[in-house]
Amino acid sequence: MSDRIKIKEILTSGKADYEATVKGWVRTFRNNQFIALNDGSTINTLQVVVDRDNLPESELKRITTGAAISATGQVVASQGGGQSVEIQATDIKIIGDADPQKYPLQPKKHSLEFLREISHLRFRTNTFGAIFRIRHSVAFAIHQFFNERGFVYLHTPIITGSDAEGAGEMFQVTTLDLNDVPKTEDNEVDFKKDFFKKPTNLTVSGQLEAELGALALSDVYTFGPTFRAENSNTSRHLAEFWMIEPEVAFADLNDNMDLAEDLLQYVINYCLDKHDEDLKFLESRLLKEESQKPQKDRSDMALREKLKFCVDNKFERVTYTEAINILKNSKPNKKKKFQFVIEDWGADLQSEHERYLVEKHFKKPVILVDYPKEIKAFYMRMNEDNKTVRAMDILFPGIGEIVGGSQREERLEVLESKMKEFDVPIEEMQWFLDTRRFGTCEHAGFGLGFERLVLFITGMTNIRDVIPFPRYPGNAEI
Ligand code: 4AD
Ligand code: MG
Repeated sequence: MSDRIKIKEILTSGKADYEATVKGWVRTFRNNQFIALNDGSTINTLQVVVDRDNLPESELKRITTGAAISATGQVVASQGGGQSVEIQATDIKIIGDADPQKYPLQPKKHSLEFLREISHLRFRTNTFGAIFRIRHSVAFAIHQFFNERGFVYLHTPIITGSDAEGAGEMFQVTTLDLNDVPKTEDNEVDFKKDFFKKPTNLTVSGQLEAELGALALSDVYTFGPTFRAENSNTSRHLAEFWMIEPEVAFADLNDNMDLAEDLLQYVINYCLDKHDEDLKFLESRLLKEESQKPQKDRSDMALREKLKFCVDNKFERVTYTEAINILKNSKPNKKKKFQFVIEDWGADLQSEHERYLVEKHFKKPVILVDYPKEIKAFYMRMNEDNKTVRAMDILFPGIGEIVGGSQREERLEVLESKMKEFDVPIEEMQWFLDTRRFGTCEHAGFGLGFERLVLFITGMTNIRDVIPFPRYPGNAEI
């Protein structure tokens, strides 16, 4: 190991007059003398001043955008503006060349679409550096939040035999030879010959397993990858995304809402605190992007202002019934501007409706509760009215649904009859029903879409840009 110092440390300490070695990738090389070096520890570059007289021409030529280099020299107060200190290099080593004829990331503005095509290199841009540093902090802050509150991090399975959401949008897992599928006498697939001797799939949610944990450990959460084979080519959907799912015993829907609101505010606050420079950069990126749009599609607030607003204000809590009334009487509904016009109570809300409520009507995050039972999952607790369930969705500006959760149906008979109604295979789910058979209790939980939260915090507009290796219909690069 060398005595390499990270650029972030050099720049934040601002100290001068000591010798240091830095390593990183050249962003630009100006006047054959000034290197802007970045090592990913910060969005900022360190200026490395080259001692031209003592570096052979052949080496100078190798200092090109994208090359990996090491530089050693005195850290001194900088003469030029823009940085407090710079390094006067006495020794420069080229660690890895980047042929300027072939390296695709030259120092100019590249579109996000272009960068998506070279997703293996996009980490090296300012935008993606900022996004992935923030993504890390969001994950870290989530674990810290739950740890401080005594939650147990429970790893639920990635390969499972159940369909938690009952939505059937699953990726199958098999070791059977698809060119020669073994069949039973009834000409059905013979899963007895498959690895697990039964049909399996990638998990769509760890909730049902988390419930088993909560009814013993009290407070648990999962944080893992989930998979949905829904054919949604939108800027909000991924086929592989990460989800945080807390599950809490002896808790009702109000406790659930409080927990979700606390979690979101805690994480946003953490990022505001730790990532001012990255957020400042992303904020100006967003401003530039929005300046191309018509006035009505621009945000009212700049990125950091919007994040602060979310931290400082209580989320609006509204019932589905109230929301439907607001939507029915709204201008876009009356003028039939919505793609799906709201006619009656019972309609499922589309993203256009959610965004109207958040962005135009309430102008702040909204928690919608008490949805019609028909449009929500089988495990949600039935209300006294026998029409609605104790569901909650949290809606965020620019995002729509960021959290989906509920108080769970803890009464065995009610749950069983709901499962029948929803065609959920009761026989196969006795393990789940056992929690209701033995020591059942009121409990609640929710699922927070990790990438949707990162999307919100970074002010990006496409979910494919906030996960390192996005998977969506037709794409599983790398
Ligand atoms: O609303 P969902 O489907 O809820 C569940 O899966 C419950 N089992 C959660 C629970 O109560 N434990 O998904 C939860 C969240 C959504 O609100 C959304 O933020 C995110 O997961 N999500 C997606 N994110 C990216 N791509 C997709 N295809 C997503 N589907 C859901
Ligand atoms: Mg949902």
